[in-house]
Amino acid sequence: MGRPGDGPADPHAHGLPATLADHAERARQTLDPRVLAYFDGGAADEITLRENELAWQRIRLSSRVLRPLAGGHTRVNLLGRTLAHPILVAPMAYQRMAHPHGEQATALACAAQGAGLVLSTQATAPVEAVARLMRDDAASGPLWFQLYMLPDRGFVRSLVQRVEAAGCEALVLTVDAPVQGARDRERRTGYRRPPAFQADNLAGRMVPPPVDLQPGQSALFDDLLTHAPTWDDIAWLRSITRLPVLLKGITHPADAVLAAEHGAAGVIVSNHGGRTLDTLPPTAELLPAVVQALDGALPVLVDGGIRRGTDVLKAMALGASAVLVGRPVIHGLANAGAQGVAHVLRLLRDELEIAMALCGCRQLSDAAAVLHAPPQH
Ligand code: FNR
Ligand code: LAC
Repeated sequence: MGRPGDGPADPHAHGLPATLADHAERARQTLDPRVLAYFDGGAADEITLRENELAWQRIRLSSRVLRPLAGGHTRVNLLGRTLAHPILVAPMAYQRMAHPHGEQATALACAAQGAGLVLSTQATAPVEAVARLMRDDAASGPLWFQLYMLPDRGFVRSLVQRVEAAGCEALVLTVDAPVQGARDRERRTGYRRPPAFQADNLAGRMVPPPVDLQPGQSALFDDLLTHAPTWDDIAWLRSITRLPVLLKGITHPADAVLAAEHGAAGVIVSNHGGRTLDTLPPTAELLPAVVQALDGALPVLVDGGIRRGTDVLKAMALGASAVLVGRPVIHGLANAGAQGVAHVLRLLRDELEIAMALCGCRQLSDAAAVLHAPPQH
């Protein structure tokens, strides 16, 4: 064990929590319980939410000893860029509810830690302001923009133009939430978003008036979902942008193949952190079939329940090109603003390096070998 008490991940050096779970615990003690229900909660009985974390924990690693490890690194190639490590921040709405500096603090932390950032459509900061913070740092990871296909397609077009002009490097179209999941935890606590927190990048969009429903019609199927995107909209989106388009929320291998056929630049295997359809399988269980179906045609990213460097390594071993981390970033942000987010990202990076070293893995392209062979039944 080298250098205890020395190094950036030492909790005592900053008075910061020791692990991502400790960050979560501290944030739980300070955030308003209703806001916490929004950030931490999931859909319905939260089975998928819980399983996301447990599924990574259930996977067993395998170690090899006495291998030369000097010169090892966590670098990966993604969409034509070399990144220092495969960790990105997942798109998450309304981050100023966690800390007054919101997405700008998250961006500074990503710049400092070489992490990618996916900015939510519902960010509480203008995309230009966030982009400036990341662009000013040469070591920064990439900035991508998460898009919801809003009913006002003219507004979507102008938003995409803004996102391009700001310097974002990719669009992430979220396809798994045409309707919000049943957010029982939010309703139990009486959560309502305080009006002070608005989606800055959505100002000026047209919201269609509600349909005058006939008896027997459904507010969901006959109104809301009449505006929901379909596969045809992928071609339209690609026609209005020069940016690569990734699809987020792919869980079925057949949809991954359709994504490739429709010209997506990548897919993100995600169940929205257990916030949409409860009892979807955890992403650790969904990832292998998607990787297999695409057979290298597209990069496959994954999110949901990643809380340890070992989880990152397992995702890479199962064929992911990179991972996204959600709630732990909110916890770091709530606990200590930009420094808290940077600390969360640093912990994951340090844990990933330690896990690689102890598995005898010098680079992530060799990660497949770190998995313990599953027991033969
Ligand atoms: C999200 N997520 C999300 N996804 C998206 O595409 N657009 C969004 O605006 C949001 N907003 C959002 C808010 C909050 C508070 C959370 C927790 C999540 C989903 C997110 O990108 C990601 O898929 C999951 O959060 C990943 O799971 P973990 O790491 O939180 O377990
Ligand atoms: C959520 C939406 C914003 O998960 O995607 O809260």
